Amino acid sequence: MTNKTLTLTDNQTGKTAELDLLEGTHGPGCISLKNIYKDTGYFTYDPGYSMTGSCKSGITFINGEEGILLHRGYPIDQLAEKSSYLEVCYLLLYGELPDKTQFDHFSDTIKMHTMVHENIRDFISGFRYDAHPMAMLVGTVGALSSFYHDSLDINDPKHREISAHRLIAKLPTIASYCYRHHRGLPFMYPDNNLSYVENFLQLMFAVPAQSYQQNPVAAKALEVMLILHADHEQNASTSTVRLAGSSGANPFASIAAGVASLWGPAHGGANEAVINMLEAIEQSGETIETTIARAKDKNDPFRLMGFGHRVYKNFDPRAKIIAKLCHELLDELDGDQPLFKLARELEEATLADEYFQERRLYPNVDFYSGIILRALDIPMNMFTVMFAMARTVGWISHWSEMHSDPEYRIGRPRQIYTGHAKRDYPG
Ligand code: CMC
Repeated sequence: MTNKTLTLTDNQTGKTAELDLLEGTHGPGCISLKNIYKDTGYFTYDPGYSMTGSCKSGITFINGEEGILLHRGYPIDQLAEKSSYLEVCYLLLYGELPDKTQFDHFSDTIKMHTMVHENIRDFISGFRYDAHPMAMLVGTVGALSSFYHDSLDINDPKHREISAHRLIAKLPTIASYCYRHHRGLPFMYPDNNLSYVENFLQLMFAVPAQSYQQNPVAAKALEVMLILHADHEQNASTSTVRLAGSSGANPFASIAAGVASLWGPAHGGANEAVINMLEAIEQSGETIETTIARAKDKNDPFRLMGFGHRVYKNFDPRAKIIAKLCHELLDELDGDQPLFKLARELEEATLADEYFQERRLYPNVDFYSGIILRALDIPMNMFTVMFAMARTVGWISHWSEMHSDPEYRIGRPRQIYTGHAKRDYPG
């Protein structure tokens, strides 16, 4: 808090409210509205909450104008280059980078929790053969609370920590089972001799009949992708987790709410839209020139999927990192496939095009993550599941932070009522 205030005066009644101005470490300050109703009789109206700070948080900072993304103060490019996904998980959860002993202990703890109760395997087997993997994920994460009720006391920091470890450890196992059930493949058991990412690749793609060959380039690409998606401040799914959890709901139910929110195409589905667009261009036989012309044409609703960003108006710092990774992966794997060639041509053509330059419309993180996931043979209906797996640590870190915040209270937005005025029941 600063010692500055802002005075708000109602011209009709003359009532005033002294509103405290709050400032964080970085970024614009906020006006505290704590006393606004008491002093003026008004609430505030902010559809989509885009002007509202809903909490104080020390986890992630974003400056969209300058293309900055920090986790606990560390720039995302440094984390992507020098860290591992598990280390970033530790950082997000505990606030500091671990030393070697702390990291080894954390890594062993996560490994201890990678298996799921056998009945969860049965639970997933009970879904219809053609269930969408996100439908299975949202249900199964919620169902975890019926298996792990030994750690559901949200007021006990130890219980909160165990639940966080369980979620980070079990998500890859559950995500792979959602995929394998869909494909009619047997469920594999986790292998704790492997790294977090290698274990996931094996859970996804190994078969019991033969040994699985890891591809280090693929594992590296996935590791960085998970780091880039680990947290992104108070986005829709994270805010959903906080709001669901603010009632005292258990962590598994709260994270299931986050998974549900991520499922929407405006949030977790953009990378899938990129592949759909590339396939549609390929099948229609359209050229890059006509595709770009359509994207520029104001009478055509078509937009290039995977270009532009609501928050990052300079560049998305994650996109720079993932672009390099994407190129390396395509060079190593099947970069000659027509779809990947098309993606590269589109990227080059837009970067050189004045319309896109003037509007600062760069390929965003979803453009490259869609291509990487496709190159890794991850089916499109698993793209959002992968995002959920990466983001689970962000969600649970925010959920834990909320529960240790002395200002925490149940979330309860207001409304402007626009329905009928009071009237009597007929007769
Ligand atoms: N293709 C063509 N033109 C575009 C595009 C695009 N993808 N995006 C924006 N424009 C144009 C838009 O027509 C407008 O032009 P003008 O100034 O001449 O009217 C200008 O650029 C500004 O657009 P805007 O709609 O005001 O920008 P916005 O900040 O409201 O929208 C966006 C951001 C991400 C919704 C939009 O760029 C878009 O629809 N992109 C495609 C979908 C996509 O890739 N979404 C994933 C975003 S990343 C999500 C994440 O962080 O996880």
